[in-house]
Amino acid sequence: MTQVVTLLRLLEAESGEYVSGEEISRKLNVSRTAVWKQIHKLEAEGYVIDAVPRLGYRLKGRPSRLSLPELLPMLRTHVFGRNLKLMEEVTSTQDELRKLAEEGAPEGTLVIAELQTKGRGRMGRSWLSPAGKGVWMSLLLRPQVPLQHTPQLTLLAAVALSRAISKVVPLDIGIKWPNDLLVQGRKISGILLESAAEDERLRYVAVGMGISANLDEEDYPEELRGKAVSLKMASGQPVNRAELIAVVLDEFERLYVLYQERGFAPIRSLWEAHTVTLNKPALLNTPQGQVEGVPEGLDDSGGLLVRIADGSVRTVYSAELGDSTDR
Ligand code: BTN
Repeated sequence: MTQVVTLLRLLEAESGEYVSGEEISRKLNVSRTAVWKQIHKLEAEGYVIDAVPRLGYRLKGRPSRLSLPELLPMLRTHVFGRNLKLMEEVTSTQDELRKLAEEGAPEGTLVIAELQTKGRGRMGRSWLSPAGKGVWMSLLLRPQVPLQHTPQLTLLAAVALSRAISKVVPLDIGIKWPNDLLVQGRKISGILLESAAEDERLRYVAVGMGISANLDEEDYPEELRGKAVSLKMASGQPVNRAELIAVVLDEFERLYVLYQERGFAPIRSLWEAHTVTLNKPALLNTPQGQVEGVPEGLDDSGGLLVRIADGSVRTVYSAELGDSTDR
């Protein structure tokens, strides 16, 4: 992979001008035939390259598909995404990641897919994942924390994603508890945590992240229009998905290190600063029944503290959240 990455950098540095085969072969320290093979690898990734005798090679077009030669040099992380599997079509990146996790893959392993045929969301819902239009990916964590702290990781992921997205696209992103990301009240991204535990010990967590990057209005079924939106639709500009992935991983890794060093408190403050859920009446459909009240903050393990009508405070760990007019 390193040769193909260097070759791409060389071609990019010339911004559309020709680079001679001789120069490439000198800089890569390989034969002219090997250069030609690397050129073919780039073409197979969707790059369009002009090859003209005596002039050399010129980069004419980039793939709209994600590619490792584009993505790898953008990564600034130490661990996250360093073991990376980029796939064309999967049922769900969660399924692929869980297989790798069971085979002993290291923390930070990342599976990205162009298309998910059975993308899934929270509460057994499906997740719309059309080909080439979004960021559909799953990250493997092996945190050394008690099982009951898993909700904290959901909140950490939401903060990481909201900070990353607003770095790449100038949009105001709000977190709806626990982990939906909204732009002007419409959902732009969702997070699904699936964990495997044994004897009260967390073995691993698969953090599934879906970012609706470049979907167009017609990609959404009727029932989702008005409730969901893409970054492209909200900002009027297509998003560079590789850049978005690199920034998400960077933010996520930084917050994860902070969490390991200083615990949940700094994550809680960041979440509370980015959320749109606190201090307004809400109706929560929990597995134990409905709770109506005003969410006021998070407790130490990541549960939502809700003040109910009698003035007491209830902690909710899992629920579907609506506002109190949603009945
Ligand atoms: C939700 O909002 O309900 C969570 C949506 C999570 C979607 C992502 S896309 C990548 C990963 N693979 C899946 O099947 N789901 C998550």
